[in-house]
Amino acid sequence: MKLFAPLLLAAALAAGSSASFAADEPAAAPAPVAAAAPAPAVVAAKPAKPAKPDLVKGEAAYTARACAACHNADGNSAIAANPKLAQQHPEYLLKQLQDFKSGKRKSAIMKPMASALSDDDMRNVAWFLASKKIKPGFAKDKATVALGEQIYRGGISDRRQIAACAGCHSPNGAGTPSQYPRLGGQSAEYTSAQLVQFRDGERLNSVPMHDIAAMLNDREIKAVADYIAGLR
Ligand code: HEC
Ligand code: HEC
Repeated sequence: MKLFAPLLLAAALAAGSSASFAADEPAAAPAPVAAAAPAPAVVAAKPAKPAKPDLVKGEAAYTARACAACHNADGNSAIAANPKLAQQHPEYLLKQLQDFKSGKRKSAIMKPMASALSDDDMRNVAWFLASKKIKPGFAKDKATVALGEQIYRGGISDRRQIAACAGCHSPNGAGTPSQYPRLGGQSAEYTSAQLVQFRDGERLNSVPMHDIAAMLNDREIKAVADYIAGLR
């Protein structure tokens, strides 16, 4: 048995050296724990936000991933093709990021952006954006604003029986937290592009919106999207 002693010693030394290698991981681990500790204080400082998501980390991830290049630092995108994200319901934003990642919602631009985010990043970014104020917009086409209002508030009651948008998205376009997204103030270009995507099955993440958009013609889509831009 004595013969094995050097082997055991060697094994112990090897274990010792691999232990110090492994120690890199435990050494790194306390950092997130320590960072997590002040989080409740940060969240507590912001009024009426759920306790879990971390807005400071959300803003950091949003900045680090260059989201602001297209959606602006405060989520009020200046380019009409890029949606405004400010003041959107966070549950909705989180679902969209997951749907881009999974491909249920197709976008060559947003798929890689969303895929680079962890689940925690998505949550934090969503709640950070929801805490920002949306900049209101305006309807631009006088010729179609009456048609847009009629569709939004009353739906279309010919044989198509299209439900009023206001029934789900609320009369002022603010939506309903956790169920129906805010639409009011969104750029008309983005809103009409989404309605076309729902209609054509490019955006497969909502059965009700597919069924509604499938019954709208191009003129009606343009009209209601323009009306929605001015809702506040
Ligand atoms: C190169 C420009 C660009 C960058 C960078 C970008 N986005 Fe987008 N984003 C878009 C466009 C365009 C759309 C609309 C996609 C579509 O056609 O459905 C979009 C859509 C979204 C939506 C859906 C909004 C809604 O109302 O449904 C969310 C959420 C979003 N982006 C978040 C992010 C986040 C978070 C980042 C950073 C990780 C990011 N985006 C980076 C261009 C960009
Ligand atoms: C039965 C309820 C319901 C009705 C009625 C309804 N919507 Fe929606 N709408 C939804 C839901 C739910 C979503 C979110 C889908 C998802 O999770 O991606 C949505 C999403 C949308 C979006 C995407 C928002 C974004 O930021 O990308 C647009 C645009 C939209 N609706 C426009 C309309 C218009 C215009 C009408 C009326 C013609 C309408 N909706 C009627 C439930 C409804």
